Amino acid sequence: MTILAIDTSCDDTAAAVTRDNRILSNVIWSQAALHAKWGGVVPSLAKRAHQDRLPWVVSRALRLARANLPNSANLFTRHSFGVGGPNSPNLIAAIAVTVGPGLAPALEAGIHYAKQLALLHEIPLIPVNHLEGHVISSLARPNLPNSPNLPNSLALIVSGGHTQLVLSFPSHRILADTLDDALGEALDKAARMLGLGYPGGAVLEKFAKQGNPQKYKLPLPLLGRENQGAFSFSGLKTAFYRLVEGKELTKQEICDLAACFQSTALDHLIRVVSKTISHFNHSSHSNNFDFSDLLIGGGVAANIELRKRLRKLGKQFDLKVHFPYSKKLCTDNAAMIGLAAQWAFARGEAAKTQAEINLIDRQPNLTFPSL
Ligand code: KG4
Ligand code: ZN
Repeated sequence: MTILAIDTSCDDTAAAVTRDNRILSNVIWSQAALHAKWGGVVPSLAKRAHQDRLPWVVSRALRLARANLPNSANLFTRHSFGVGGPNSPNLIAAIAVTVGPGLAPALEAGIHYAKQLALLHEIPLIPVNHLEGHVISSLARPNLPNSPNLPNSLALIVSGGHTQLVLSFPSHRILADTLDDALGEALDKAARMLGLGYPGGAVLEKFAKQGNPQKYKLPLPLLGRENQGAFSFSGLKTAFYRLVEGKELTKQEICDLAACFQSTALDHLIRVVSKTISHFNHSSHSNNFDFSDLLIGGGVAANIELRKRLRKLGKQFDLKVHFPYSKKLCTDNAAMIGLAAQWAFARGEAAKTQAEINLIDRQPNLTFPSL
């Protein structure tokens, strides 16, 4: 099924065309520059920018994929579908849209636009959980499709809004979640304290590469309590603030501080993931859920040091580790929404009638259930 997917959960206006787990186009218009001077995303500005940019982003995604929406002139003769008939690979069979989690006004812009398209072209609208998109993003392929079967997996979502270890497929259950900040958010805050701008995770990584991660001692969060299904980054952030507060920093000091913060945050992440897997392997659940793969998604999945450490962990636990094949697939994008939509469709979650489509609403706090 060829899907046109839309994501406006935060500050990226994104549209993509996907078929099975193949990405035919993936267009993103980042609003980072618009929000940078405010040091974070301003929801009302984001909504307006999404509304302005969606038509261009969607038509570009369609053009790059050489795909068409069913011709509205043919809407009342379902058997004459324009290009190549209803089964033509070029023809969009459904629209998918992120309904949550995310910023309410931003989500609303994408949902409103997607509803209009679905109604105008008389095709189903598939509401998608953005987190399921991040879970599945590492299984996307640029070209040849591989088996659409999903492995029984653990998924680690590490983004600006989430840090979750999830047991995945056929359903998703949270095994560990953050008590406070998300990992990406913590990296962004540390980068800001070092004067590296916003969003800072990727810049912090660059500085960290030239720094000594042992130079300063930062406290490991939740030390000794890593088996309790929780991540925490706010204490680390406070300790870091005390370290840098009011200091004039040299370039080398900034690199060392960046390296120390990143390294400590990742130490904590890996310790919790590792303890949770061990705990799970030895618990009564282990007979019911056998996982062979570890799927990583979210903006921080682009981080090289994180990848190194997770590959090592994969070896230790005999898990096949998957990362998204490009940076663009790590950070927010609509291609992952198209992929997730296939599974939502298979679960019968598509809205097909006008009444069902009208009922689709934003769910800013959408999450997965806990185990
Ligand atoms: O998945 P994403 O685009 O948005 C959310 O759904 O939250 O993730 C954005 C986050 C930001 O915190 C950003 O700083 C972080 O991903 N990020 C990185 C890197 N690239 C993006 N963090 C560490 N290293 C990177 N290379
Ligand atoms: Zn995201």
